[in-house]
Amino acid sequence: MKVIIRENAAEGGLWAARHIAARIKEKAARTAEPFVLGLPTGSTPLATYAELVRMVKAGELSFKNVITFNMDEYVGLPEEHPESYHSFMHKNFFDHIDIPKDHIHILNGNAPDPEAECAAYERAILAAGGIDLFMGGIGEDGHIAFNEPFSPLSSRTRVVTLTQDTREVNSRFFGGDPEAVPARAMSVGVATVMDSREVMILAFGPKKARALASAIEGPMSHYNTVSAMQNHPAGIIVCDEAAIGEVKVNSYRYFKAVEAAEG
Ligand code: PGA
Repeated sequence: MKVIIRENAAEGGLWAARHIAARIKEKAARTAEPFVLGLPTGSTPLATYAELVRMVKAGELSFKNVITFNMDEYVGLPEEHPESYHSFMHKNFFDHIDIPKDHIHILNGNAPDPEAECAAYERAILAAGGIDLFMGGIGEDGHIAFNEPFSPLSSRTRVVTLTQDTREVNSRFFGGDPEAVPARAMSVGVATVMDSREVMILAFGPKKARALASAIEGPMSHYNTVSAMQNHPAGIIVCDEAAIGEVKVNSYRYFKAVEAAEG
């Protein structure tokens, strides 16, 4: 995997936005097929979304031929709830870009048949030709999407039970009450993400440092599902100095040297 280290989250977010824009344009230059983009919610991608919105408003980029698949959604939270991932994505991204509404895919956490909903999501990804680039974050417990510790690395889209840790971390959006955070979610699986032609994981701030070091230097393990990135042929981690702080000095130096040599 490649590790891109920037001074802070703002710089890392910019790098990620430019990378997405470059990939969309590269594909558009060689085919009329849509670009298929996997997307996360959370605090981490906000700077990236803001820069992509700026590019669209400046006429530098278009999402007219982009199809998106979001990673996850809470189970049982009404779509119009301000903390649903439907609300998050529209507020922070989709309402400000030129993407056709029918190109947006977000799991329906209120589907009457959750299993059928998850199976249909996997089929929709395949029907779109697979995902070109999946952007994700990393949880403090090393989760990718809502694939908590002990999620099989072969997992597919399904209903998952959130850890108490995750509910506590996310309680900041629910008035500080972990019990107000839904206990379950629908999430793409680790294998769903890893099937993408490219995966880009963003990690900013000191709270991500331990999980990130273990994902990069530890064994590939269901205990830290982002570690599946070790086996991806085109994996990129974009992080800031704080988030990379727990890796070995020699690892850090090598990542810097690779970026200097390869860009
Ligand atoms: P955050 O969440 O971006 O809000 O830190 C990331 C995650 O839980 O994957």
